[in-house]
Amino acid sequence: MSSAEWQKIEVLADRSYPVYLGAPLEELGDYLHSLPEKVEHILIISHQTVLDLYAKRLMKGLEDYRVNLLVVPAGETEKSLERLSQLTTAALRYGADRKTLVVALGGGVIGDLAGFFASVFMRGIRLIQVPTTLLAQVDSSIGGKVAVNHPAGKNILGAFHPPQAVWTDFTTLESLPWIEVENGLAESIKHALIADSDLFDFFETQVDGIKRRDPSIWRMMVTRSSSVKVRIVSQDEREQGIRGLLNLGHSFGHALETQMNYRGVTHGQGVSIGIVAAAHLANAKGLITLDEVEKIEQLLQHYGLPTTISGQDPQALLQRMQADKKNQGGRKILILPQGIGNAVISKDCLDSEILAAWHHVISD
Ligand SMILES: NC(=O)c1ccc[n+]([C@@H]2O[C@H](COP(=O)([O-])OP(=O)(O)OC[C@H]3O[C@@H](n4cnc5c(N)ncnc54)[C@H](O)[C@@H]3O)[C@@H](O)[C@H]2O)c1
Repeated sequence: MSSAEWQKIEVLADRSYPVYLGAPLEELGDYLHSLPEKVEHILIISHQTVLDLYAKRLMKGLEDYRVNLLVVPAGETEKSLERLSQLTTAALRYGADRKTLVVALGGGVIGDLAGFFASVFMRGIRLIQVPTTLLAQVDSSIGGKVAVNHPAGKNILGAFHPPQAVWTDFTTLESLPWIEVENGLAESIKHALIADSDLFDFFETQVDGIKRRDPSIWRMMVTRSSSVKVRIVSQDEREQGIRGLLNLGHSFGHALETQMNYRGVTHGQGVSIGIVAAAHLANAKGLITLDEVEKIEQLLQHYGLPTTISGQDPQALLQRMQADKKNQGGRKILILPQGIGNAVISKDCLDSEILAAWHHVISD
C-alpha cells in the first residue's frame, strides 16, 4: 500500500491528535521519528495471538528504538488492577521512564488496558493506539477513554488519556474471526443510525461485499464509521452532551449482558438487540416510523446480528437498567433514534414504555 492511499483525520480536542487510516504497520517507526519529542524506548502491549500475526511487520519499522514486548492474555477479565500492577512491574524491569512510549497493539481490551497503564505510569506517558479489531478501529481507539474493570463494574476505574496518534492498518482485520467482526459491525451500524444516514444506506447496499470482506468496501466502511466517532468526540471530548449518543443500544444491551452473566450473548449481540429495543421505544414516542424500525431490524439481521432474544424476564431486565451508570437522580437516560441518521438523549421514558420495548425484543 502506498502512502498516497492513507488518510488522516484529526480529533479536535484539548490536545488534538491524528487518526491515520490505512497506515501500514511497517511505517509506524517513520512516523515516530517525526514526533517533536524524541522517542527512545517503546513498550508494545499486546496479546500473543496478535503478536504472532503482526509483531514482525510492526518491528520492521522500529529497529532504531529500544523495544520491549509486554504480553497480556486475551479476555475482558485482563482489564484489571492486578494486570495493571504486573504491567508496571515488567515496565520498571525494562527500565521504562517518563519518556517511554506505549504502543497498544490489539482490540479494545488492549487499548483500554494499555491506555490506562499509560495514563497512570509515572503520572502519564505517551501512547499510540494501533487498533486491530473492527470495534477498536471504528470506536474504542478514538476518543481517549481508557479504563480497567473492578468487581463492582466495567470500566469503573478510568481516565481520559488521548493518544499521540491512532495508527489504523486495515489489513490487520483480515485475520479477525467473524464473531469479533460482528461486535464491530454492531457499533458501526449504531454510528450510522445516530449520525450518518448515508452510511446506513451503504450498509444496506454493501451486505455482500462486507460479508466477503472486500478490502475496498471495508476500507470505506471503517473510514466512514470512524469518521462519525471522530466528529462526535471532537464536539464533546468529555461526554458532557452529544458524545452520550454513542450509547445508543447500550443501556438495553448492557442490562441483557449482565442479566445473562456475559454468557450466551456477545457485546455486539447485546448492542444489536438493544438498538432494536431503543428503536421500538422511539417509535412509541413518535420519533421514528414503524417502517424505519423494520429497516433497522432487517439491516441487523442481514449481518447475522440478533434482533430478539428468548427466555428473558422483561421485569428483571428493567430492574437491571436501574444500575446503569448513565442514570441521573434515579432517572433513566436513554438514547433514542430519531429517524435514521439522527438520535436524541431522552430523560423522560416511563418504566412502562421501557418494559413495552423489552417485550418487543423478547421472543417468547
Ligand atoms: N475506550 C472506549 O471508548 C471503548 C469503546 C468501546 C469498547 N471498549 C472496550 O473494548 C473492549 C472490547 O474490544 P474488542 O471487541 O476489540 O475485543 P478484544 O480486545 O477482546 O479483542 C477480541 C479478540 O480478538 C483478538 N484479536 C485482536 N485483533 C485481532 C486480529 N487482527 N486478528 C485476529 N484476532 C485478533 C484478540 O486477541 C481477542 O481475543 C471492551 O473491554 C470494551 O469495554 C472501549
